[in-house]
Amino acid sequence: MSGFDSFPFGELPALLLPWYASAARPLPWRETREPYRVWVSEIMLQQTRVAAVLGYYARFLSALPDVFALAAVPEERLLKLWEGLGYYSRARSLKRAAEIIVNEYGGVFPRKYDALRALPGIGEYTAGAIASICFDAPTPAIDGNVLRIAARLANCADNVDAPAARRTLRAALAQAYPAGQCGTFTQALMELGATVCLPTGTPLCGSCPAASLCLGRAHGTAKALPVRTKKQPRRAEAYTALLLISEDGRTALRKRPESGLLAGLSELPNTPGELSPQAALSLAEALGAKPLRLTASAEYTHVFTHVEWRMTCYRIECAAPKKIALGNTTSEGGLPLIWADAAALEGEYALPAAFTKALRKLGGKR
Ligand code: ADE
Repeated sequence: MSGFDSFPFGELPALLLPWYASAARPLPWRETREPYRVWVSEIMLQQTRVAAVLGYYARFLSALPDVFALAAVPEERLLKLWEGLGYYSRARSLKRAAEIIVNEYGGVFPRKYDALRALPGIGEYTAGAIASICFDAPTPAIDGNVLRIAARLANCADNVDAPAARRTLRAALAQAYPAGQCGTFTQALMELGATVCLPTGTPLCGSCPAASLCLGRAHGTAKALPVRTKKQPRRAEAYTALLLISEDGRTALRKRPESGLLAGLSELPNTPGELSPQAALSLAEALGAKPLRLTASAEYTHVFTHVEWRMTCYRIECAAPKKIALGNTTSEGGLPLIWADAAALEGEYALPAAFTKALRKLGGKR
């Protein structure tokens, strides 16, 4: 086994760049070096697959075509554009960074790694990606793909989650960046990780442009690398959510608190624990609804990074709520219920996937 500092990463560009020129998937964010577009793509692609991002990316850019539009967008609209992508703090950080770029940089993206790194939501990976792709800086963008590729190439069994290992890799890889082609090299590494040097199963060493350099392949260790810190098992939490549907066709929503998981988004009314149908009807009443009958139930699990929700959901038909001073809301202690009609449910409120699953299973649309 060896370390990152002794591996000849400098030989990689000559192997990867010609391969990338013929093998790269045509992806919309690869048609531009405009920092706004590259930035949005890199933020969306964190923890989200390319196939899932494509539609969101097109919709987001047509709604918010530049940094000024993003800085000015109302938060509700932003969250609606992000609805279903998950990790909603990414969207909020995007907007905060856009405000800084508009207010402090006159709307012109900073070009230097350190200035990018200082913006909300932009970590080492994203700053490295933007600086290399948009401004041709030799700044590696080290994500799980690149860690895996490097550990296999160098046959390095160091824990790649250790900050020292990442520092060493960053310095070694920075030396290898080819002047004038820094962005292409960053993209080529990503492409190799996504399509050849695969995380699960056997890496496709037979079609790898860097196979001749790869010590992991030579030693038969590639599949077992990288060594990473074992993840903590996810905590399981039980919730009961209510799909309250009024006789006049509206659905009860609530707004979640401004901090914590899914902060500021909408939700179906819910409570911790697994309630019986009878208890669910009582809860509906306690929340200010007028439940008539419980007509269906569903169970599912929704997985977040560190926690999973084991959901029990009931569909409850309710009498039409009285319109009170606040508009379409009723309140009986706790957070008020918002009675959304079909158009508002679809187009106005950002309802995260943890709850749209209940709508789908219980015939509430989406
Ligand atoms: N994952 C993260 N960034 C990416 C990019 N620019 N292209 C493809 N996949 C990616």
